[in-house]
Amino acid sequence: MALHFEDIKPKIGSHVSWDDRDDLFTHEAAKLVREKVEERTVLVFPKLNLTDEEQLAFTDMMGGRVKLTGQFNKQEVDENVYQVTLDKKINPQPEYVLGTYFWHMDGMPIDAPPPFATMLSARKVSAKGGQTEFASTWAAWEGLSEEEQREIDGLRAVHSVKASMIPLTDAIPAEQYQKVIGIQAEKEHPVVWHRANGRKTLLIGSTADRIVDMPTVDGRALLWRLTEWAAQPNFSIRHDWEEGDFVIWDNTAAMHRAIPYDAESGRMMHRTTLVGTEATNS
Ligand SMILES: [Fe+2]
Repeated sequence: MALHFEDIKPKIGSHVSWDDRDDLFTHEAAKLVREKVEERTVLVFPKLNLTDEEQLAFTDMMGGRVKLTGQFNKQEVDENVYQVTLDKKINPQPEYVLGTYFWHMDGMPIDAPPPFATMLSARKVSAKGGQTEFASTWAAWEGLSEEEQREIDGLRAVHSVKASMIPLTDAIPAEQYQKVIGIQAEKEHPVVWHRANGRKTLLIGSTADRIVDMPTVDGRALLWRLTEWAAQPNFSIRHDWEEGDFVIWDNTAAMHRAIPYDAESGRMMHRTTLVGTEATNS
């Protein structure tokens, strides 16, 4: 098996290349890729052109899938593949996809361990916009001064779907408003997650609503500062998609967001999600 990894930036991201495409679909490769995702946070496989079956098989080999979102009007797509699209024929609730324009980590308000990784295959790209950006919350923690680390270590934040929808509030059609904003999912996480592997990562982004036992506005201001810090160029990369690209990232150590694009572009990503096994409260 020969897989090759080339750093994109010192603190985040690797491009992956391979001698033989079939080599990827082995347990040996899945184990190596999982280790590299933890080490480099984001892996880009240019023009891998995965089928849904291959993507699901690869997800399972890496540790198993989890279904994060409900089903839409999709056709001929496995129920475990989520279609990220603004196309209303397929996705009658594009609000959740519009929410991806803002820095976030997937699955934070859900009462389960945060999903370990998210995987996207680009099926159709937008001529304008539609890039995805990734920011390492591990590098962000490491880059803080000791004093700043001491100030935030031990704090807890409440994450909610509602908080992540606030930037969209004015744009949600009245008939959808209660359905979208009224979602009650809420979960408390540490701001600084002490991981089993000895690392610490920040759990932040648009779902983080407030800091427990801190005045609401002060807590939000702190969460925004941490988000801005993590998004700085040293800790983040932008991927400009080409059709067939496949990207895996460590959802427990990175925020991500999409650059806005038109629904008419037909942009379509097929997403699978790798189950998380490490609870944040343990
Ligand atoms: Fe996401």
